[in-house]
Amino acid sequence: MTEVPTLQGFELRLRPPRPADLMTLFGWYNDPETIAPFDRFAIDSYDDFVRSVEGAPDDPRSLAPRFVVERTSDHRVIGFVGHYQAHPVLELTDVWYVLGERSERHKGYGREAVGLLVDYLFHTTGLARVGATCDTDNIPSFKLLERLGFRREGTLKAALFHHGRWHDVAIYGVMRAEWATAVRNANPIRVASAA
Ligand SMILES: CC(C)(COP(=O)(O)OP(=O)(O)OC[C@H]1O[C@@H](n2cnc3c(N)ncnc32)[C@H](O)[C@@H]1OP(=O)(O)O)[C@@H](O)C(=O)NCCC(=O)NCCS
Repeated sequence: MTEVPTLQGFELRLRPPRPADLMTLFGWYNDPETIAPFDRFAIDSYDDFVRSVEGAPDDPRSLAPRFVVERTSDHRVIGFVGHYQAHPVLELTDVWYVLGERSERHKGYGREAVGLLVDYLFHTTGLARVGATCDTDNIPSFKLLERLGFRREGTLKAALFHHGRWHDVAIYGVMRAEWATAVRNANPIRVASAA
């Protein structure tokens, strides 16, 4: 099984999910109010969820959480993030991110967590680009991406159905060559270290 490292940031660390985390993650994953307007991958049961998390390290296409977001100061788990191969043919790897603890949003934690994740992908793969998509109405999500140096590359019209209607989806990407500058500019992100 592929080993998932721990990535240490300034206020947060990303680490692999432990058995004791799984019920919390499952609760967030299945809560439309937590995920919305992100359209989650449908998981039917807790057992399926656990299997998907356990299998994720060896499945590049898995949409399961790959890292929990833990605050370093008190070890509180506040969210989870993942990455997945987003296309069957093209070399597209997308990141996704959720701060399940809503009281911890809008404090810069999302930005730090996604920064660590993108940094990790550029350090451990040969990818030239890391991508992300989000509902064009999801202001916190696209502001987070833009703050990290992602560029909006286009819009997919009516590509996501939730809350009873079709939504447009923004396509974002950041190039490896741009990332070093983006990291430097996006205080307090720093280069992640695998432990
Ligand atoms: C998207 C999400 C992870 C953002 O995390 P966060 O920790 O709240 O974001 P940050 O505090 O790092 O802020 C990132 C940027 O978004 C802005 N932002 C955050 N929340 C905002 C809000 N409610 N309204 C407007 N802007 C907001 C911040 O000001 C910041 O931009 P700035 O640096 O230019 O000021 C979080 O809102 C979340 O979990 N949402 C639900 C799940 C989701 O939608 N995931 C994304 C799916 S594509």
